[in-house]
Amino acid sequence: MLQQKTSYVPYVAQDYAHLKGLTGISDKTLEVHFKLYAGYVTNTNTLNQKVIELTEQGKSGTPEYSELKRRYGFEYNGMRLHEYYFGNLTPGGSELKESSEIGKAIIATYGSIETWKNDFFKVGAMRGVGWAVLFQDPFTKVLSNHWITLHEEGNIAGFQPLLVMDVWEHAFLLDYVPADRPKYIEAFYSNIDWAAVEKRLLK
Ligand SMILES: [Fe+2]
Repeated sequence: MLQQKTSYVPYVAQDYAHLKGLTGISDKTLEVHFKLYAGYVTNTNTLNQKVIELTEQGKSGTPEYSELKRRYGFEYNGMRLHEYYFGNLTPGGSELKESSEIGKAIIATYGSIETWKNDFFKVGAMRGVGWAVLFQDPFTKVLSNHWITLHEEGNIAGFQPLLVMDVWEHAFLLDYVPADRPKYIEAFYSNIDWAAVEKRLLK
């Protein structure tokens, strides 16, 4: 009897066209970045489909299968981290108020918004390509800034991403030279949608 084929339902890339008009991050940079993001979505879908096919063919013990499995962290996180990144931006930005829930959570951990911001900027300026992320521990609700190398090294299991900043060079190279990454970080900060960040807070 023929075994029925499993069909994987592909994930659809999100549309972030409304972000055009950011301060200090050009529309051209966004266009390039949207295409890169779409590539991660495509690769994630391809990866899932190929893994299913290999499993159905009884080839889940093969080196090919293992290499595809090892790639999950890169492609999935490449897709999802970009969604957090685009999702915490808005043209015109917004103000981080000390009295807001996210403001209070930051102050509870870091003592002041300024101290947290300085640390977040320093993490983002670290050498190498990757991400600066403000995470929340789901158990203690405590916040902490983290560095993620590429897309997969440094994610903490179960931690909730609150604010995600892409510091791969493709995120700013059309607008700033590599040594001017701090200027890009300032531009990123001026475009943060703090209401969107606050919605990610775990209660
Ligand atoms: Fe990126």
